[in-house]
Amino acid sequence: MTKYHLETGGKLYIAGEYSVLVPGQTAILMPVPIKMTADIEAAQDFKIWSDMFDYAVGLEADANYALIQASLETMSLLLGKDIAQLPAFTLSIKSQMEADGKKYGLGSSGSVTVLTLKALAAFYQLDLSPDLLFKMAAYTLLKLGDNGSMGDIACITYDQLIAYRSFDRKTISQKIANHSFEELMKEDWKYTIEPIKPSLEAHFLVGWTKVPSISRDMINRVKGAITSDYLSETENAVKACKKAIESGDKELFVLSLARVSDLLETLDLAIYHPKLLALRAACQNVNAVGKSSGSGGGDCGIAFSFDQESTDQIIKDWRANAIDLIYDQRWT
Ligand code: PMV
Ligand code: MG
Repeated sequence: MTKYHLETGGKLYIAGEYSVLVPGQTAILMPVPIKMTADIEAAQDFKIWSDMFDYAVGLEADANYALIQASLETMSLLLGKDIAQLPAFTLSIKSQMEADGKKYGLGSSGSVTVLTLKALAAFYQLDLSPDLLFKMAAYTLLKLGDNGSMGDIACITYDQLIAYRSFDRKTISQKIANHSFEELMKEDWKYTIEPIKPSLEAHFLVGWTKVPSISRDMINRVKGAITSDYLSETENAVKACKKAIESGDKELFVLSLARVSDLLETLDLAIYHPKLLALRAACQNVNAVGKSSGSGGGDCGIAFSFDQESTDQIIKDWRANAIDLIYDQRWT
């Protein structure tokens, strides 16, 4: 009996938010091993189930299952056959990316798309390169009208700390409408995904505000405020940040992270939700640096602490502000 178990994780932005929405700009993202899992096995009929909803579907369109079903559709394009003509399966998806019915904001839509594609590739015995997987996931999300930079799926497919330079999603979306799938997969979309090897000694902390924020709405609200100054100054700070991570330059790291944080704060007032201000304030009089992560307005913020006393102080402060430490990891 063919049976496969696959996993994908989440992601967090370290630097480059909003700026990376503009093609050619860079963001730094890091994987977070809070997982989504898929189990797929041969079955008589197609059955798709996710613990995010308490019912299963087949191949008939269902709004809650749109992302998973669109991923199936993308895989059918790669295989050159209708899914209905292929061997049937039961696909079960589970997520750890929420608590008390509230999402963490670790990129579950991107993660479920990549996960579904990985599960189908395993089941139909295809060996997909991370690059093809990234393009197929981006294709799926763009087709559904996603307005993000695709940085999330770059990080989730590579499952590494990366520097991601975005491609022109408008051009690719237009090509989805009038080019073949095969042509599009062959074409150079002109993004880059570069793994980063950290040499910085730090303790990475993730604080969850428990305030759900919708990236799509935040992007629509904020995008008009993005100026060429914002872009060039953010890009400079992101490059400095990357260099600091690679060379282990703590001073430069703290400066560049504080800089992108300030730039985000002045970009739009909605980004630094009061709970994210509290999250960052907890890092201010200790040996650490903190910032909001992703679109802001809630979800998670991050901190890098450089000694145990500071880490303890931050966690205590966060707790006093009802901010949950949901993940931590030591660098080097
Ligand atoms: O909130 P998140 O983790 O989905 O991050 C959004 C980051 C933005 O730059 C604001 C949008 C994007 O897709 O890059
Ligand atoms: Mg978010």
